[in-house]
Amino acid sequence: MLKLGVNIDHVATLRQARYQGKAAGEPDPADAAIICEAAGAHGITIHLREDRRHIQERDVWSIREIVKTRLNLEMANAPEILALALKVKPEIVCLVPEHRKEVTTEGGLEVVGQLKDLIDTRKRLNDAGIEVSLFITPDLRQVEASAKAGAQFIELHTGAFAEQFHEPEQRHGEIQRLVIAAKRAHEIGLQVNAGHGLNYQNLSSLHCVPHLVELNIGHSIISRSITVGLHQAVQQMLRLMQNDAA
Ligand code: PXP
Repeated sequence: MLKLGVNIDHVATLRQARYQGKAAGEPDPADAAIICEAAGAHGITIHLREDRRHIQERDVWSIREIVKTRLNLEMANAPEILALALKVKPEIVCLVPEHRKEVTTEGGLEVVGQLKDLIDTRKRLNDAGIEVSLFITPDLRQVEASAKAGAQFIELHTGAFAEQFHEPEQRHGEIQRLVIAAKRAHEIGLQVNAGHGLNYQNLSSLHCVPHLVELNIGHSIISRSITVGLHQAVQQMLRLMQNDAA
């Protein structure tokens, strides 16, 4: 069954809009994690960015304490954050590229060009019992390099698919890229997740991508929670995912 990891970064975005620099404030992403799990989410995802624009270090610890499913920590391959991850011990770390000026994670990780560094980090995380995922664009060179890096998972960047969703020809092209990348990843022993820009409208078009284990979805679920509540928003997404699989 296709699993759902809910990315709760934007709960913290809302809190930081009012309580930046304060030791506490509302809404608390840890409360959101509890609701997502109660609604049936299979995991909780958070991104501790180097600029701390949403999730703070204290959130990482409090969320670690309450998550009962599995915690996926997205992070840049940076020494300070790696040291923290090794202490916090999420079940899985997803390594992502990070640029300070971007609104959200814009590209995929350049695995080919950073293979040696990524192997070192992957080994350190695996030695601490943490699985490793690499967030990459659906590009066969990056898929092959991810296997060479020894990652357990890749997360296919669905941002281009989401952007082209309303252009049938381009959308078809992006879906084909995802299909080809997922097939190759599966062949060479990688587990395949996907995420970025997925929402209640575009999700169904992804059902033809094979071998998907988990989708990581944030913005659309947190946005919908403002009108229907977080529990409902998570359940609506889960129902969509189940209908597509049926
Ligand atoms: N996966 C990764 C690696 C991401 O960086 C993000 C955005 O933080 C997501 C999934 C979720 O993207 P969205 O908020 O667009 O659903």
